[in-house]
Amino acid sequence: MKGLILSGGAGTRLRPITHTSAKQLVPIANKPILFYGIEDMAAAGIKEIGIIISPETGGDIRAAVGDGSQFGVDITYIPQTDPLGLAHCVLIAEDFLGDDDFVMYLGDNMLEQGLEEFVHRFEASRKSDNPATAQILLARVEDPRSFGVADLDDEGHVVHLVEKPEHPPSDLALVGVYLFDKTILDAVRAIEPSPRGELEITDAIQWLVDQDFLVRHEVLVGWWIDTGKKDPLLECNRLVLDTLLSHNDGSVDEQSQVEGRVVIEAGAEIINSTVRGPAIIGKDTRIVDSHIGPFSSVSHDCEIINTEIDNSVILAHSRITDMTRLTESLVGRHAEVHKAPERPRATRLMLGDHSRVEIHD
Ligand code: G1P
Repeated sequence: MKGLILSGGAGTRLRPITHTSAKQLVPIANKPILFYGIEDMAAAGIKEIGIIISPETGGDIRAAVGDGSQFGVDITYIPQTDPLGLAHCVLIAEDFLGDDDFVMYLGDNMLEQGLEEFVHRFEASRKSDNPATAQILLARVEDPRSFGVADLDDEGHVVHLVEKPEHPPSDLALVGVYLFDKTILDAVRAIEPSPRGELEITDAIQWLVDQDFLVRHEVLVGWWIDTGKKDPLLECNRLVLDTLLSHNDGSVDEQSQVEGRVVIEAGAEIINSTVRGPAIIGKDTRIVDSHIGPFSSVSHDCEIINTEIDNSVILAHSRITDMTRLTESLVGRHAEVHKAPERPRATRLMLGDHSRVEIHD
């Protein structure tokens, strides 16, 4: 079994962060989203992993993941020049995949459950008298319109799959983790681009169903988040922080208090401040005269001074001073956020393209 991780895409819904960085490298609890997927594959015994990269962010992904040895896996990079769809990724990975079965994983998806059992059940089916050609994972969601959606018949078989339907036939969304045998290559060759101009993996799976190949499905237990937008990303950060085990490799002075589940990474300094978990403070970050509230991830080399933060993700090398309360925020790398002087009463901004700001006056 091989792994194929899709880590291209423009990440338009996470701009401006994604103007300069890949959406799959945004950290959740100070670790890039993509790393969780690679680790899950390694834990499921998958050692050969292909990663689809785009010309814009491929260099960053290569720099972060390297040859895979840090995860105990072998990585092959597969460049995709244009974002022509998830099924197109399968097509360009043909040489890498050979005749092997594989798990395909969307690099911005995060799941609570590991891949191990999901993979084992597919392998068991492959050895049975009625082997599945594909296995999909479904999750019940409130609003399925922004996902692929599956419809099951009375006997629970997948009969219909549709991408981002205006009128969803069910509440079962397709999670970005799929298992395939090589028949999927015939499927992706047979389908036409969708109205958004992409070869949809959802259509390729529908082709398998139409040709009477067996498509198994499982309904997910545990949470699943497509982290491609700010609010789901913050929610994912909350869920992952809740699972961390406290440890302190930095320093906390006598005037400071650390409560609950808190990770303080090496070289971090907490000075005259409170950190209330679940929270993580990155390497060499300084927290001075501040309150870091629950569900905050502050990355490495940041400086937080005289500020209150909760429910936020702050990326590396950022500096935040004198903010009374910052909440539900995603702050990019090398960003500066400061309180304005009392007079003249005004807000001064220098924002990147596609930034979004909510100002409390
Ligand atoms: C893609 C798939 C969709 C699936 C979703 C899961 O959507 O096309 O079927 O439900 O991932 O995250 P996209 O992220 O390309 O909008």
